[in-house]
Amino acid sequence: MFPLFPPVGGIYTVIQTKAKITVDEWGENLFMMGPYYEHNINTQVEKCEPSNPAIKKAMGALTENGCPVYFGRWLIEGSPYVILFDTKAAAWNVDRWKGDLWDTCGIGLPFHDIEANDSLIFGSMVAWFFKELTDQLGDSPNVLAHFHEWQAGAGLILCRSRKIPIASIFTTHATLLGRYLCAGNVDFYNNLDKFNIDQEAGERQIYHRYCLERAAAHCAHVFTTVSQITAVEATHMLHRKPDVVTPNGLNIRKFSAMHDQFFKCYLFNIHHLDFNLQKTLFFFIAGRYEFSNKGADIFLESLSRLNYLLRVHKSDVTVVVFFIMPAKTNNYNIETLKGQAVRKQLWDTAHTVKEKFGTRLYEALLKGDLPDMNTILDRDDFTIMKRAIYATQRHSLPPVTTHNMLDDASDPILANIRRIGLFNARVDRVKIVFHPEFLSSASPLLPMDYEEFVRGCHLGVFPSYYEPWGYTPGECTVMGIPSVTTNLSGFGCFMEEHVSDPTAYGIYIVDRRFRSAEESCNQLTQFMFGFCQQSRRQRIIQRNRTERLSDLLDWRYLGRFYMHARSLALSRAFPEKFWMEPLTEGFRYPRPGSVPPSPSASVHSTPHHSDEEDGDEEELYDEDEEAKRDRQNIKAPFSLGPT
Ligand code: UDP
Ligand code: GLC
Repeated sequence: MFPLFPPVGGIYTVIQTKAKITVDEWGENLFMMGPYYEHNINTQVEKCEPSNPAIKKAMGALTENGCPVYFGRWLIEGSPYVILFDTKAAAWNVDRWKGDLWDTCGIGLPFHDIEANDSLIFGSMVAWFFKELTDQLGDSPNVLAHFHEWQAGAGLILCRSRKIPIASIFTTHATLLGRYLCAGNVDFYNNLDKFNIDQEAGERQIYHRYCLERAAAHCAHVFTTVSQITAVEATHMLHRKPDVVTPNGLNIRKFSAMHDQFFKCYLFNIHHLDFNLQKTLFFFIAGRYEFSNKGADIFLESLSRLNYLLRVHKSDVTVVVFFIMPAKTNNYNIETLKGQAVRKQLWDTAHTVKEKFGTRLYEALLKGDLPDMNTILDRDDFTIMKRAIYATQRHSLPPVTTHNMLDDASDPILANIRRIGLFNARVDRVKIVFHPEFLSSASPLLPMDYEEFVRGCHLGVFPSYYEPWGYTPGECTVMGIPSVTTNLSGFGCFMEEHVSDPTAYGIYIVDRRFRSAEESCNQLTQFMFGFCQQSRRQRIIQRNRTERLSDLLDWRYLGRFYMHARSLALSRAFPEKFWMEPLTEGFRYPRPGSVPPSPSASVHSTPHHSDEEDGDEEELYDEDEEAKRDRQNIKAPFSLGPT
């Protein structure tokens, strides 16, 4: 059960990517449940009638009482069934349902918190549905319900308080209070046991939401979260230790290589490049716009230091950095659109001249002559080419943002860019493009989806301070793109635990746990500077290794933690019928064969080549052989498992 449709960000990725393996396991007995939003449903769901009579009857009971429920197949990989509850149409019940919640557990929802009210309507419908369903089914088959996030919590609380016979799991992808506290710049991890959590929640006006989350965690037969670090956080913020850690996976498939030129062509559109593209590296950060939680603060500071280092070392490398973080905007900015128009004109001019050149060449050859290169292009051709070149000349610096920001003056990314003075000046080796919107292939400015974009970049940088899991670096890994993460992100800790030398595999882990912000900044700067100094050959080797970690992040492997949680929940809810299946053992990735045995820093972990640039991948050394050797060395078991 998921609280939003479609959910956004990492939670959406969990729900969507996990569907396939869950359908493989449960087939026609899996039903995903969420709120009904007409505009999304029309494009993403194929409506149909439920073939299961108990489901149909339970849905009918709600619909006939003025609370419509819809059914269909969600058009994602695995095509799971979805049951969608029309919370808008059922909103007339909200006051009564608020009373029920209060009577049940003493949690009161303020009228102005629309999201909390919607979550209660959704939860009340879900609990009602389960009541009808279990009445239909009787003793068999048993029902297991998995609730994600606090917004789905009310349903779980109501089911349990009404003693509806279902097995239940509650998964939290963060704690509300943890996220708020971290965003408020407190020293969170060193004071986990010292916060007065009720008071902190009250002061942040999220007391009722926090109560829903905490009650759901305590009501569930099994409580899980996405990483070990969030398990510790939940133990303090919700006062229940998770029973199982369910790390997030991905659906791994092989991607076809992307045409580099295609990517650069679009970058031309949004950035007025006046530097050598062969010596340009593309870095990016992406995710929800939580400035300090996502580490955008230390990233900007480190970019300023990187710029300084590249300049004093007279490096010919340019780094273009994208910030893909949604903020409030009111359109593309004029300068960016102008730049795009000018580039298009340049492109069109080149095509026109090419056509003319081709025709004249053909005509000359037809006559049996070689063309006179001095006259094959005439004065008009030169005129239009000159005009196009003049049009590219600019009197201002390329803009830092692609859109008009609504909060331009107070936006934290822009404020920090102003502070460090990285305005895309010609002398700067670090250029910035802030794209305050998630990517979409329908965008007129940068028409590509996120996956295409990532594959066109060289390094993802995610120096998060608060990150229960963090999909973005994992997605980089499976696409063969190195990335920076931290030892405060679930993903970073997972990699530290299961890979002997993450750096050698292109996963740079910044220490944000045991170092000061200043030291973390320096470490991040060094990682990025080291990356800029790598030769193309070194980057290719690192890329190949990075991709090799894919198996570790595949749902086909990580799905077993969800299976374990389900088995545990069934054994707790129906002990006379079910027993807990033990977890099978996992594996651990060794240091790659070609890396020297002593632990060493990033660049040195990659095989050394004296000749600087270029060369064919095949010439380097046999990567496949290394991969084969390493696979044979992968050791079982490793310690991932229930907490
Ligand atoms: N993402 C996306 N489009 C973009 C940028 C990011 O769909 O333009 C997705 C990305 O694929 C990832 C998610 O947003 O799955 C971010 O998840 P993460 O767990 O890293 O952080 P969250 O935003 O949930 O805190
Ligand atoms: C939340 C967390 C993020 C995690 C995602 C999926 O959005 O902030 O770190 O990756 O959930 O579990």
